[in-house]
Amino acid sequence: PRDLRELAQQQGIRIGTAVDIAALRGEADYRKVLNREFTQVTAENAMKWESVEPARGGFTWADADALVENAKRDKQSVRGHTLVWHNQLPAWLTTGVADGTIGDDELRTILRDHITTQVRRYKGKIRAWDVVNEVVEEDGTMRQSLWLTHLGPGYIADAFRWAHRADPHAKLFINDYNLEWNTPKIETTLSLVKDLQARGVPIDGIGFQGHLGIQYDYPGDWANVMRRFADLGLEVAITELDARMELPVTEEKLAKQADYYRRALTDCLSVEACRELTVWGFTDRHSWVPGWFAGQGAACLLDENLAPKPAYRALLAVKAPR
Ligand code: G3I
Repeated sequence: PRDLRELAQQQGIRIGTAVDIAALRGEADYRKVLNREFTQVTAENAMKWESVEPARGGFTWADADALVENAKRDKQSVRGHTLVWHNQLPAWLTTGVADGTIGDDELRTILRDHITTQVRRYKGKIRAWDVVNEVVEEDGTMRQSLWLTHLGPGYIADAFRWAHRADPHAKLFINDYNLEWNTPKIETTLSLVKDLQARGVPIDGIGFQGHLGIQYDYPGDWANVMRRFADLGLEVAITELDARMELPVTEEKLAKQADYYRRALTDCLSVEACRELTVWGFTDRHSWVPGWFAGQGAACLLDENLAPKPAYRALLAVKAPR
């Protein structure tokens, strides 16, 4: 294949990326590569609750709309990210809950309205939604979020039902990190999915974020974990792949990084139900990593100047197990 788009077509999967809306608007070279290489997009931040409703009832859809519009022009599908999360909530919401001016019944209504409003707005335009994000803790207990504390565990089933009602054709996903290898998290998430299915809750897919670091071992069991979710009838997606490293960059580290990307794609292709590989940003020019992990970076497929790194070439070289 010549590029990722052609690779995606040949392998019959979607190859997506998270998109930085400011870069999409302001950088012609970024936009060009985005639209040439990728068959799907996810908003890195623009569809999160704090972005779309910074003041209560005051909606700011311009950035999210821009992403969806651009995707339409360049024939990309869209992954919606994310409806229910404990981070990047608007301050009016967290403050209102904390000081008691928003009670639990009202909070439930607010969540229902949020999901309904956002999913309905993009009805037919978003292929898949990350309905709930990161709802399980590292030790396998349910995450102690504002949602669990105030609404109880039923908020998860409710969220899927509300999303389904607002767009019956969108694929509804549960999404998490460290699910590539963390046994307690894997087991709890599997039980959660089975429980939802037993109660007739509309859940279609599992998203593995895939935030890897090359200073750690590659999660060698990942394909087997994917298969366990696929065996429950779920579609599988890698939703936020990257592979960070300790700076400075060396040839050796780039080679190791290339191997991590290659293995992630190979794992996905080895599981029939894995239909998507999305990277969390495609260029080191715009990546969340340096801001979050001191001394680390260079996690993406292309460098700051949009030049392909060994990892990019490694993806193109993957031979079809399909
Ligand atoms: O919007 C403000 C801006 O007004 C302000 O001037 C600027 C100064 O710091 O901050 C801006 O907000 C930042 C926002 O990204 C938008 O750029 C936040 O500080 C920053 O914390 C936020 O980080 C995002 C992070 O989620 C927050 O939770 C990252 O860009 C984004 O890549 C990251 O994405 C998450 C996925 O949603 C879920 N999985 C993990 C992944 C990586 O953490």
